[in-house]
Amino acid sequence: MEQKLQFPRDFLWGASTSAFQVEGGWNEGGRGIANSDVRNIPSGLADYKGASDHYHHMKEDVRYMKELGIKVYRFSFSWTRIMPDGHHANQEGLNFYHSLINELIQNDIIPFPTLYHFEMPYALIEEFGGWVDRRCVDAYVQYATICFQEFKDQVKMWATINEQMCATAPDDMNGNLTEDDYLRQKTLYQMSYHMTLAEKMAISKFRNLIPDGQIGHVVAMQVIYSETSSPKDVLAALNAQDELQWSFLDLSIKGKYSHHFQSYLKQKKIYPQMNQRDLHYLAENKPDFIGVNYYASCCVRAKNKLDDCLKMPPFYQSDQFYVVENKCIQATEWMHFGIDPDGLYMGLRQLYDRYELPMIITENGMAYSDQLIDGSISDNYRIDYLKQHLEKCYQFIQEGYPLIGYCPWSLLDLVSSHEGFSKRYGLIYVDRTNDDMKSCERIKKKSFYWYQNIIQNNGIEGEE
Ligand code: BG6
Repeated sequence: MEQKLQFPRDFLWGASTSAFQVEGGWNEGGRGIANSDVRNIPSGLADYKGASDHYHHMKEDVRYMKELGIKVYRFSFSWTRIMPDGHHANQEGLNFYHSLINELIQNDIIPFPTLYHFEMPYALIEEFGGWVDRRCVDAYVQYATICFQEFKDQVKMWATINEQMCATAPDDMNGNLTEDDYLRQKTLYQMSYHMTLAEKMAISKFRNLIPDGQIGHVVAMQVIYSETSSPKDVLAALNAQDELQWSFLDLSIKGKYSHHFQSYLKQKKIYPQMNQRDLHYLAENKPDFIGVNYYASCCVRAKNKLDDCLKMPPFYQSDQFYVVENKCIQATEWMHFGIDPDGLYMGLRQLYDRYELPMIITENGMAYSDQLIDGSISDNYRIDYLKQHLEKCYQFIQEGYPLIGYCPWSLLDLVSSHEGFSKRYGLIYVDRTNDDMKSCERIKKKSFYWYQNIIQNNGIEGEE
């Protein structure tokens, strides 16, 4: 029987976007050239220059947020809009975010910016290769400090870096593109180390500048299953969980790798270069919460020489495991890993057991090639997806765990991180295609009204 699943009174219902995927206005307002502007886009897919044209629809988009009823908006600052050359602040760029933040606050929506969501001034990649170089730590800390100083009176909830695992994996966005497998992996951990150090140093500034604020990391949560009960596959799953999740989070939260991962990195000669004087930053400066991005779980088996790596999480390669299809979970056109709400519950539990920090879902959503039929979009599949995942959030909260909010990905359709514009996640349809910006008219989908109702009732009808 369906029952009302009532969420805590102060639960933060929200929605998410990121700057390079939604903003557009790439050559306006004094913005510099970003890594996303010079990316090699496969033919037929949208680039990031116009995106969802949020830059010109900002006030309208906030009106939709208000109508939706969200209490928090998780977005990201474009580093390149704020610091076009990576070294000097651009007042016009800061002003854009002042307008957005003011607009949000006037509409009783808490602004929740992420400082780094895959996007950065291309100048820093040209100058020293981006995150692989230690100078990027200083550049990020300078940028973070400018943002803290500029917005400290209005913004109290912040995130440092979105998904270290995806941000460091070989990609033309971060310059980690050498042909050599060994160097690619070594670079990945060096970048990750620099990101962690940058986050920790930024958190230390944050504590002084915004002592009444909260700041957290955002993880691409990995829930890894073994394909079979063969001990070799089970070990591969354990190693995959270490490699894809704990390695990044242990460093960011505890300030050190697990014993096993340390020895793995050393044995492979890819242990990042660290500096003695960094160690106290790593040990201190714990975040206040973890932002959790979850789309689906992942299934692995032990690797053998014949496996290729095409099925790895985007551009990720490992010699410890091989990603396979999970036969118990149905994949869809865009949800290549299938749909697995139970995975959300299990992943949250694992995170809490390891770090005992409050959590907020910063991304969770279903991609679909939505069709506009007679002016509307009946995205029942998305409603089902969101409902099933919210039921798991409810269960988790019922068990007493501190899950403080839920921000589906995404507020509105935007350019996928690597698969163009017909892969849509939004509660609001944006009328454009991969190759035609059209008017970018906003059209509320059925899921918009469904989510609006959930927020109004502070709960869902569901199986208890
Ligand atoms: C997360 C990212 O990894 O997944 C988002 O934080 C991204 O930026 C989202 O859009 C969905 O992935 P994709 O590749 O379908 O856009």
